[in-house]
Formats: sequence, C-alpha cells, structure tokens
Amino acid sequence: MARAPVFVALLCLAAIALASGADARKMVGVYVLKKGDFSVKITNWGATIMSIVVPDSKGNLADVVLGMDTLAEVVNDTSYFGPLTGRVAQRIARGRFVLDGKVYHTYLNDGKNAIHGGHRGFSKVIWTVKEYVAGGDSPYITLYYRSFDGEQGFPGDLDVYATYQLSSPYVLSVRTNATALNKATPVNFLQHVYWNLGGHGSGDVLGHTLQLSASRYTPLDKELLPSSGRVEPVAGTNYDFRTPTPIGARIRQVMGGQMVGYDLNYVVDGEGMRKVATVRDGKSGRGLELSANQPAMQFYTGNWLNNTKGKDGKVYNQYGGFCLETQAYPDAVNHPEFPSIIVRPGQVYKHDMVYKFSY
Ligand SMILES: *[C@@H]1O[C@H](CO)[C@@H](O)[C@H](O)[C@H]1NC(C)=O
Ligand SMILES: *[C@@H]1O[C@H](CO)[C@@H](O)[C@H](O)[C@H]1NC(C)=O
Ligand SMILES: *[C@@H]1O[C@H](CO)[C@@H](O)[C@H](O)[C@H]1NC(C)=O
Repeated sequence: MARAPVFVALLCLAAIALASGADARKMVGVYVLKKGDFSVKITNWGATIMSIVVPDSKGNLADVVLGMDTLAEVVNDTSYFGPLTGRVAQRIARGRFVLDGKVYHTYLNDGKNAIHGGHRGFSKVIWTVKEYVAGGDSPYITLYYRSFDGEQGFPGDLDVYATYQLSSPYVLSVRTNATALNKATPVNFLQHVYWNLGGHGSGDVLGHTLQLSASRYTPLDKELLPSSGRVEPVAGTNYDFRTPTPIGARIRQVMGGQMVGYDLNYVVDGEGMRKVATVRDGKSGRGLELSANQPAMQFYTGNWLNNTKGKDGKVYNQYGGFCLETQAYPDAVNHPEFPSIIVRPGQVYKHDMVYKFSY
C-alpha cells in the first residue's frame, strides 16, 4: 500500500486507444472472461482485475472486488485496486540493494523507500494481450510484458507473463512467470485485489471470518519494513488467524505502519502450492479459498481507504476491503536470512494463485 501520487499520461492513453490494426493487442482495453454467471473483467493496463462477479446461495450476483469504472480512473488509481505489481512488489528499504557486488538504486515512491516496483512498476504499464478466449469451459487471457534493463532501476531484461483463467465451478487462477534474459535480478510479484465478499461498497469487512495457514510472521517497523529480520510466532498475538476469526475481532489493537489495522507479512506454513487462506462472509454466505506457491503473504485491511470513489457510484471507506497478497518476504533483497528472490539468466520465477469461490 502506498499513498504516493502517480504521474498520469491520460493524453498518451487516449492516443494509444486510437491506434488500430496490428497494434490492437498493445492498446489499453477491457477483456471479459465469462463462464455462466461467473465473470471477471481484466484490463491489460497493469494486468488489473477490474471486477469479479460471483453468485451467493440465492443466485444473487455481486461484484466482490473494489475498483474503478473507467480505464482513465484505473490509470489514475493510487490504491492499487487489482493490479499485478512488480518487478519487486512490496517494499525495498531506501530503494537500494547490492547484487553480485554492484549497488542498485530503484525509484523511491513510498517516502524514503521503494514499493511495488516504483513509480512505473508493472501495475502502471501496458501489457500485450497474447491470447484471449472470452467464453467456453475455461476462458482465459494471457498478458505479456517485456521489462527492460534499468527500468525503475532494476537490472536486466525480463520477460513476464500473467494468465488469468476461469474454471469449474467458480475458480479463478492467476499464473505468472518471469525469465531473466541477461542479468541477475530480484523478482517478486503480487496481486493486489481488494476483496469484499458482501459486494464492493457494501460496508466494512470486519465481520468476515478469516483463517490463515500461517503460524509465523515477520515483525514490521513503522515504515512497514522487516528491519529486525526476525520471524516470530503468531501464537498469543493479535495476528493469530490459525483458527477462523472475524477480521475485526482485534483490529483496533493492531498498527499497520502509521495506521490502525492489518498491514502485516505472514510466513505461510509449508511449501509449494498449498492453501493460504479461507474467508467467509456470514451475511452473504460467500466464501473464498486462496492457494498459492509463495513463501509469504501480506494481509492488508484497506486501512487507508477514506471516502475513496469506486465503481457504480460506491464510496470505499476504511476496512471496506482486504487484500491477501501472496509474495516473497518484504525487502528480501536486503535480508540474506530471508529466502532469496534473485532470478539469474535462464532461471524462471513462477507465482501461481488459485481463488476458489463458494456459497
Ligand atoms: C485522478 O486523481 C485525482 C487525485 O486523486 C483526482 O482529483 C482526479 O479527479 C482523478 N481523475 C480521474 C479521471 O479519475
Ligand atoms: C510462461 O507463461 C507463458 C504463458 O502461459 C507460457 O507460454 C510460457 O511457456 C511460460 N514460461 C515458462 C518458462 O514457464
Ligand atoms: C478521512 O479523511 C478525513 C478528511 O481528510 C479525516 O478527517 C479522517 O481522519 C480520515 N479518516 C481516516 C480513518 O483516516
């Protein structure tokens, strides 16, 4: 989460939208994936999820993610409603790291630190639409981005793919990969979608029940950096969600940096593709189960939302949505005690997420 202003080239966006023919796949567009009453809207601006519509047990449809109506607003967004962030998502202390003896400085866009790949990270660029199948059994879209050597201060060219796919019964999978082409580089992506299973704009999520497969966390300081490098047990803290617990049960006792609320990195138990989180909204009866193959997950409760204008004339306020951001450890590039996020030429980074909806 960052509050940094974003420089917006709306005129440029308009010019791109006027292009045609072979360039169509590089224009900013909106792509709908539809499978019965389950539908997901994606834009290739930032590989952003704009909406996810799912039913409840009575067949009532709701859009369960926060976001914006128009592309102009998506481009302007500073809350990271639904994009894929990278090259290095989450914070890098002072935007500085040393790799193979060389010092790198990345763009500072979170006070003295870097966040989500900088001012023009992967969430703020146009991805190329490689493949798009709107309907059928398993609708999907594959997006591609070539990140260049030195982009936002990061080393080496990087080939990046993200595929969003629907499958039965109500499953959304997000599969990403990145290949370093010529230099070693840190890589960490995360999907920054904000959930409200009662429907976006329907109030706060404090009554949602959350269970996390996480018995440890990395304490974060006021700048939300894991400066101590410690990993501590959640047992006996307000961070313990090992058994299903309402998000709001202890939220007033928790400080996420400068704000009351969760903005915390959990170490996910186990390895490989595994269950990370289960969430249920008692009111609508909708449930969400998230599995992923990453070592950690940032849990964020929309602490900074404040009269934020969203889709369909709705307004989002504090705790109006929550994020389950599977990821590597924050600032791993400056903490040799954390799992490495360095990808060397020829190596492949893979981050898969599977969201299963139920009612
Ligand atoms: C862009 O953001 C600024 C600042 O939040 C706001 O005043 C402006 O109305 C926004 N523009 C659009 C097109 O959403
Ligand atoms: C990355 O994903 C794309 C799109 O799904 C796929 O075609 C490609 O083979 C993947 N690359 C690697 C190295 O797995
Ligand atoms: C929301 O913004 C208003 C006006 O700037 C401010 O008075 C209020 O304290 C803010 N609330 C939160 C929770 O940040």
